[in-house]
Amino acid sequence: MGKKIFSGVQPTGNLHLGNYLGAIKNFVKLNNDDENDCVFCVVDLHAITIKQDPKELRNNIRETVATFLACGINPEKSIIFNQSTVPAHSEATWLLSCVARMGWLNRMTQFKEKAGKDKEKASIGLYSYPILMAADILLYDATHVPVGEDQKQHIELSRDIAQKFNNDYGVEDFLKVPEPLIQKEFSRIMSLKDGTKKMSKSEISDLSRINLTDNKDSIINKIKKAKTDPLPLPASLNELNERPEAKNLLGMYSSLTNSNLENTVNEFVGKNFSEFKEKLSQVLVEEINPISQEIKKLINDKEFLDKILLDGHKKANKIASNKVKKMQEIVGF
Ligand code: AMP
Ligand code: TRP
Repeated sequence: MGKKIFSGVQPTGNLHLGNYLGAIKNFVKLNNDDENDCVFCVVDLHAITIKQDPKELRNNIRETVATFLACGINPEKSIIFNQSTVPAHSEATWLLSCVARMGWLNRMTQFKEKAGKDKEKASIGLYSYPILMAADILLYDATHVPVGEDQKQHIELSRDIAQKFNNDYGVEDFLKVPEPLIQKEFSRIMSLKDGTKKMSKSEISDLSRINLTDNKDSIINKIKKAKTDPLPLPASLNELNERPEAKNLLGMYSSLTNSNLENTVNEFVGKNFSEFKEKLSQVLVEEINPISQEIKKLINDKEFLDKILLDGHKKANKIASNKVKKMQEIVGF
């Protein structure tokens, strides 16, 4: 049976290899299966939980759409829209905020990471961010949510919120309890500068990530400068546990070549990093360069991108406003 897919990406610039291998590549696969109904959302309401420059945000919304298309998401077969154009997301967030418990949110590790040491200065939006995410998913009756490993806890929270709403109001099965879809391997791509840190949009050093807009030279240069260790490549998977940078680079190669880590380890056993890095650069350029060129082409066609968003808005708005209306009736409005 087909799945109902929902996922979101924040329009905060610098979409990178982690977003691609952890999430977007999977969106494309799910989108190619005609049995599935897919909704892919540019989550601009989530983006402003951290201060954004309005002009940049506007560009980043379009760039995220361009990236979806350049990676192979087909707008004829899926709904692509930006969250802020569908009021039901904000409306449902309030209803669900009254169901979600403080204790649940206090456990969210992403908030702790993003808020840093000075939690008092974080926005309320950053704290309640996972409730908005639950609203996104639950409004569309999504059965499956493809994400990178870092979002697993938020999907679990969405499940708890759905179940509590259904129980509290005695409406069994009204909100569908969603399943996360997380790649078994390589669901967490690490920084090129530190194999223990996630590859991230907000890391100051651009050398820490491969952006989906990087050209060939830039990819080759970043891989050349990527952190390694002094040993030759290992003979077994076990040895990788103490070598985060080697594990990350070999993982990237495996993911890009649709192989598994064991095969990749066998392919490069005893080789030095410089030889392996050449091969890795080659597969990266083959995969990323066409995407980067397509993004650069699409980004100039604002009208086309806005048309995709408008079409998506109409379809999404219909589904979501219908669902939130039912939620409002259920709570007694
Ligand atoms: P974001 O950029 O935070 O909106 O993330 C968009 C999607 O990319 C989410 O599904 C994340 O889980 C995924 N993602 C972000 N960073 C990484 C990473 N370093 N490795 C794997 N997946 C990631
Ligand atoms: N929080 C997700 C991230 O940062 C983005 C997101 C927002 C999302 N709403 C969603 C992902 C709904 C899946 C489903 O990556």
